[in-house]
Amino acid sequence: MTLISTRKFLRNFVQLAGLSAATLFLAACGKQEAPPAATPAPVASAPAPAPAKVYVVGTDAAYAPFESQNEKGEIVGFDIEVVQAVAKKAGFEVKFVNTPWEGIFNALGQGDRDMVVSAVTITPERQQTMDFSAPYFDAQQLIAVKDGSKVAKFADLKKLKVGVQTGTTGDEAVTKLLGKTSTAIKRFESTPLALKELESGGVDAVVADNGVVIHFVANNPGAKFKTVADKDFQPEQYGIALKKGNAELRALVNKGLADIKADGSYDQIYAKYFGAAPAKTAEAASAAAPASAASK
Ligand code: ARG
Repeated sequence: MTLISTRKFLRNFVQLAGLSAATLFLAACGKQEAPPAATPAPVASAPAPAPAKVYVVGTDAAYAPFESQNEKGEIVGFDIEVVQAVAKKAGFEVKFVNTPWEGIFNALGQGDRDMVVSAVTITPERQQTMDFSAPYFDAQQLIAVKDGSKVAKFADLKKLKVGVQTGTTGDEAVTKLLGKTSTAIKRFESTPLALKELESGGVDAVVADNGVVIHFVANNPGAKFKTVADKDFQPEQYGIALKKGNAELRALVNKGLADIKADGSYDQIYAKYFGAAPAKTAEAASAAAPASAASK
């Protein structure tokens, strides 16, 4: 830098600095209120910590015990408590927004939701368009039928009318069995609607996630349903869905998940909803108390 340009630089710098200092001073004066006479001058204190970031979490809250709305309209459930615990560990805040399943991944892709927790099964197909946290729950499809039904295995549904929630892994499994063009598949906006249809006789069976089916059957004895398991259903794992490429939030969430698994808080939430801590070993599983009615 030549002498002239250095001078010019300095002058410009001083001008700029002076201007911004003046602006700041004016802005500060504008905001300031005259302190009451008795108030001592404030002692300079450490700057307040930046407020925690609030992430918007989409959930289809018609999927008890994972996510549902209580009488007060609050969103509650296993997934909700897991994400709340993760957020607490990872130092962010969450706001749950009830979001219909059908638009839930679009909302994530468009950035209207930062995360989706909704008993979402991690599938290779979904992984093309979204990212997932580490798995946090094991699941499998389960069949619900009326008490007197002769259905004993999944293949028995071939000639029957089957209800599913649109676009779920249950829908996928049934579509594979009955064929893409089958008119015997009745698709519903929510799983409870499909189960209501089973109750009223509009369908012969419903295929949905085991936790939800078991919960519904246990809490609606009047519906007179039974469940039918089939080992042919693929094992599934739930993950928290994130916008593709949001590696920063994914790392935070995974760290939080690892922390709540390590310190026992995940097991506590699990036990609250499913009666026993998730089996880590065969001994642990058999030693665990049988599932209590942790449905409410
Ligand atoms: N696990 C299934 C899937 O990912 C069903 C999830 C439905 N979740 C819900 N909250 N409705 O396809």
